[in-house]
This record gives sequence, C-alpha cells and structure tokens, in this order.
Amino acid sequence: MSKHKVIYDTDPGVDDAMALVFQARHPDIELLGLTSVFGNATIETTTRNARFLAGRFAPGVPVAQGAAAPLKRAAPEPLAWIHGDNGLGNIAIEAGVEAALDARPAHRFIIDTVRAHPGEVTLIAVGPLTNLALALADDPQIASLVKQVVIMGGAFGTDGVLGNVTPAAEANILGDPDAADMVLGAPWPVAIVGLDVTQRTIMSRDYLASLRDRGGAAGQFVWDVSRHYEAFHEQSAQLRGIYVHDSSAVTYVLAPHLYTTRNGPVRVLTDGIAVGQTIQKPSTMPVPAPDWDSRPECKVCVDVDVPGMLALYERTLCGTL
Ligand code: BDR
Ligand code: CA
Repeated sequence: MSKHKVIYDTDPGVDDAMALVFQARHPDIELLGLTSVFGNATIETTTRNARFLAGRFAPGVPVAQGAAAPLKRAAPEPLAWIHGDNGLGNIAIEAGVEAALDARPAHRFIIDTVRAHPGEVTLIAVGPLTNLALALADDPQIASLVKQVVIMGGAFGTDGVLGNVTPAAEANILGDPDAADMVLGAPWPVAIVGLDVTQRTIMSRDYLASLRDRGGAAGQFVWDVSRHYEAFHEQSAQLRGIYVHDSSAVTYVLAPHLYTTRNGPVRVLTDGIAVGQTIQKPSTMPVPAPDWDSRPECKVCVDVDVPGMLALYERTLCGTL
C-alpha cells in the first residue's frame, strides 16, 4: 500500500503533539509538512512548538506558519490552563532542533503541495480551520485535488455532548466558525472526528505510564508532555486520564474501520449564543432543508472501537505494529 501523504494543520497543543508523534512513528504516513495555526496558544507559540516537534520527531519535514487570528474575529486568549504556558504542558523545549520554517504562509504551502501531488494529499486539521479556508479562498480548485480532509472538531450530540467550550461548541470550530462553515461546505471529501468519539476515547494514567515504560524516547515524551494536560482533565472532568482528540483524527486516516460514520451535509452556526455549533442533516432525513441540501455530504464519526484505537496508538509508539 502506498503511504498516506499528509499535511498536518495544527495548533500545538499537548494532544496535537501526541498526534504528531503518532504520525511520525507510523510507517504508513509520509508527512509532507506541518502548518501552524493559532488556537491553543498564539501563532508565535504554536509555530515554535510545531518547529520543535517536527525537528525532534520528523526531521526534514518543513513547517509553514499560518493564521494568527480567525477570519472575522479577534484571536482568542491562549488556553494556558489546559496546554500550559508554553502550549506543551510546560515541558522544557530544547533549542537547536527546530525544523526549517518555510517562507510561504501556511495556506500557500497547502495550495502548492496539493497541486504538486494531485489527488494524493490528506489534510489532517486539528485546530481552527482558518488556514484551510484561506487556501480555498485563494484557490477553490484545490477542493477537487485533495484526497480527503480529516478534521478533529465539532460535536453532534450523539453521545450526549454538544460542546467543550460552551454548551453548544467545540474548541476548534468555535476558534473560527466562519472558516469551519466554508471548509465543511467545500466539494472535497470531509470526515469529522468530533467530541462524540474523542471524549469516549480515554488514555488512562496506567496506559500513559505503560507508553512511558515501553515506548522509548517517544513514549517518555508523551508521558512528559501530558502531565499538565492530565491534571486539567482530573480537575475539570474528574478523569484519571485524558481525552484523545487530535490522535483520533490520525487514527481515522490509518484505520477508518474503527469508526462508524453518518453521512450528510453539516452547517456551522456563525452567530448567536450557539455560535460554533455543528449541525448535520443526516442523508436519511426525508424533509427538505435548503440551508443544508445544496451542500456536499460529510462523514461524521458517531461511534468508535476504543480498544482498537488505543491498541493502534500503543503499537505505533512501541514499534510493535
Ligand atoms: C481540540 O481543541 C484543542 O484544545 C485540542 O488540541 C483539540 O484539537 C479539542 O476540542
Ligand atoms: Ca489541536
């Protein structure tokens, strides 16, 4: 099987970092580049972190800096209480390993890379969707040249959850709801891995400790980077472990059979008290809904094989695939 050629659009971010290690270690993924975006921290911080992560775990893979703020709003405050003051759980970030910074802005890097590999590139987007929206705005034809877009974001209530920042919105979609509505309405194949499945997928402390003990430098890194994040989960959700957000998008690319999906167009509310809410019209729904009906179908993940997901991550890190 040929490898998945991936551009990883990311706002590192602790779980972003864990998902990068996963991709770097998996033999079926060829990382073409990382594109940074504001979100968990400022664009300066997420770009610095992306360069550190690429340099340390995926040497030779370039990083392009992306959007500093959403399309139509001010940049949000960094989520230091979740991801640490430095966006990486307050671990020491060594200097001198950082990846090269591409001269192009992220959206231009995306366009050029997609055009260089027509039909082959998978975009894994695990932050606010601003870079993807800017790429579409500059070159709408890339939608027909991308293999697939896999997004960590949104919540559809199939497991009783509609949001993690407000009662109606998940962080990445709320980060730039206008961009999200554009990206989910473009004619490219989109799969959405949202809170419905990511909050059901939990890495326990024992699981993380086992990665630390058996996963070499990558396992030790995952343990170190997740200490602050785990404390946040314990405080906020009384969880002895962490939700698996961004690595779930990577898993969908590698092993889509681990997910059950529902087809149908998705809209994002861009205003009002439920701004950032994601609403799908399932393709089985018989009534007309003009705000949805003219849009392409997305695949929304509604169920996950949790042991299968956790085993794939563990085997990848421990080199036992
Ligand atoms: C998403 O928001 C960010 O804080 C995480 O990195 C993840 O991408 C979860 O809602
Ligand atoms: Ca993220």
